[in-house]
Amino acid sequence: MPLLCMRNIDKAFFGKPANLQVCLEVQHNEIHALLGENGAGKTTLMNMLYGIYQRDAGEILYDGQNVAFSSPKDAIAHRIGMVHQHFTLVPTLTVSQNITLGLKSPGHPFPRRRDLNQQIQEISQRYSLEVDPTALVSTLSVGEQQRVEIIKLLYRDARLLILDEPTAVLTPQESESLFVVLRRLREEGHSVIIITHRIPEVMSITDTVTILRDGRNVATVKTSETSEQELARFMIGRALEPIGRSAAPPSCAGTALQLSEVTLVEHGRSKLGPVSLCVDPGKILGIAGVDGNGQKELAEVILGIRRHSAGSILLGDAVLDALGVMERKNLGIGYISDDRHHDSLVLDMDLMDNLLLKTHTEKRFITHGLLDRKKIRQDTARAVDAYHIKTSALECPIRYLSGGNQQKLILAREMAGQPRCIIAFQPTRGLDIGASEFVHQELLRLRDAGCAILMLSADLEEVLDLSDHIAVIHKGEIMDVLVNQDIDLTYIGLLMAGKRGDERGAVV
Ligand SMILES: Nc1ncnc2c1ncn2[C@@H]1O[C@H](COP(=O)(O)OP(=O)(O)OP(=O)(O)O)[C@@H](O)[C@H]1O
Ligand SMILES: [Mg+2]
Repeated sequence: MPLLCMRNIDKAFFGKPANLQVCLEVQHNEIHALLGENGAGKTTLMNMLYGIYQRDAGEILYDGQNVAFSSPKDAIAHRIGMVHQHFTLVPTLTVSQNITLGLKSPGHPFPRRRDLNQQIQEISQRYSLEVDPTALVSTLSVGEQQRVEIIKLLYRDARLLILDEPTAVLTPQESESLFVVLRRLREEGHSVIIITHRIPEVMSITDTVTILRDGRNVATVKTSETSEQELARFMIGRALEPIGRSAAPPSCAGTALQLSEVTLVEHGRSKLGPVSLCVDPGKILGIAGVDGNGQKELAEVILGIRRHSAGSILLGDAVLDALGVMERKNLGIGYISDDRHHDSLVLDMDLMDNLLLKTHTEKRFITHGLLDRKKIRQDTARAVDAYHIKTSALECPIRYLSGGNQQKLILAREMAGQPRCIIAFQPTRGLDIGASEFVHQELLRLRDAGCAILMLSADLEEVLDLSDHIAVIHKGEIMDVLVNQDIDLTYIGLLMAGKRGDERGAVV
């Protein structure tokens, strides 16, 4: 008997189906992948299992019993736990306080912290989930926070764990440690449902894969009996096309974006530089590096979100140093941020208003001194069409679009009006392979049209696929800039780890 059996599940939002007759069967001691494009209905299905949404039709059998959870509390009582893509920890509390939050702990209302910490440490050792129970959550890395989320579920005795895109925010090393944990969980008798877009991950750690497309089942296969190509085909309904990066157009001369000796010092600490870089029109400069090595600072200094401490930034002939964010954007800089919820979108506003965020002062949208809603609607409809954005309505708050579709809207906004320069920071984070392919094609299209693109990505493959030149960043410093041809990956790896070229002989 399977541990979980979801049968013929239906769910619609605003009359538009998100799940149609979906079935999912998870066995005991199994790591089960839920695979599908952005908007395929994966999170919706899991939210119904977890009691966040109520299904319109279908049944859920858990451990042989017909169940209907009206809240996550209900699901947790049945030993089901879920880690959402956006964590729900309280940053100002400690690890241990977060784990026991909302529970009646021994000694309640004066919980015995030392005993609790001991218990947490036991769980953490048993499952190779390394954390310090007394640390403040705000001081933890993303990978550590994720471990806390998992311990929180295990502390509540979860037997079935649902992880929604757990690796989207992790570095490759952190992902590897997570996989060790998942294997441990399986050995200890747990089952895991993991949502991910990364097919190699699915191949390496899962036992079974269920693929959804447009809210319906496409297939369920044993991982050992399928291939990466087959999974890609199931997901997007066609084979992936290799990315074609043509030689850069010769007509573009001069430098579009130039940084000279730019530094950033915050609270007495050097965060960046001195960095000197230039990006030519019609070229992509890829910045490779492990997450958190000054990429965010570099992007934000160029945008004007943070003010650099010394040095100079030029866009063409224009000196940006004294300009504000909007002035820089008006000169033709587009920004794709790595944190779309925080930096790029207003989640409760609809598609039209989000698209208007950068252009609300443009004359074409203003009639008799007022915003012309009809024109805005037409413009949004065009963007939705051109970028294949899946949405139930233009009036839908952007929060309800899937991650990939949110990202496409940002692209539509930032790439409009022939930008001279695009700062693309983790442009495909959390996107499915079809949507990533689309983003890559759009970046290459802009490059071929003469735009200068600075792309920062922790995904080395993405950097290698798209860039004309590659710079490696480590602790806020540019280690080296290379032409992207016959690149020596070991060398890049060493630079990413902070080893300079001249030390190479000694290290290899
Ligand atoms: N609360 C909601 N209100 C309205 N529409 C919603 C809501 N939640 C999800 N949807 C819609 O349901 C569809 C499926 O969304 P879901 O979030 O389940 O996709 P997903 O497979 O998890 O995608 P991603 O990989 O991007 O996270 C989407 O079209 C989305 O816009
Ligand atoms: Mg999702």
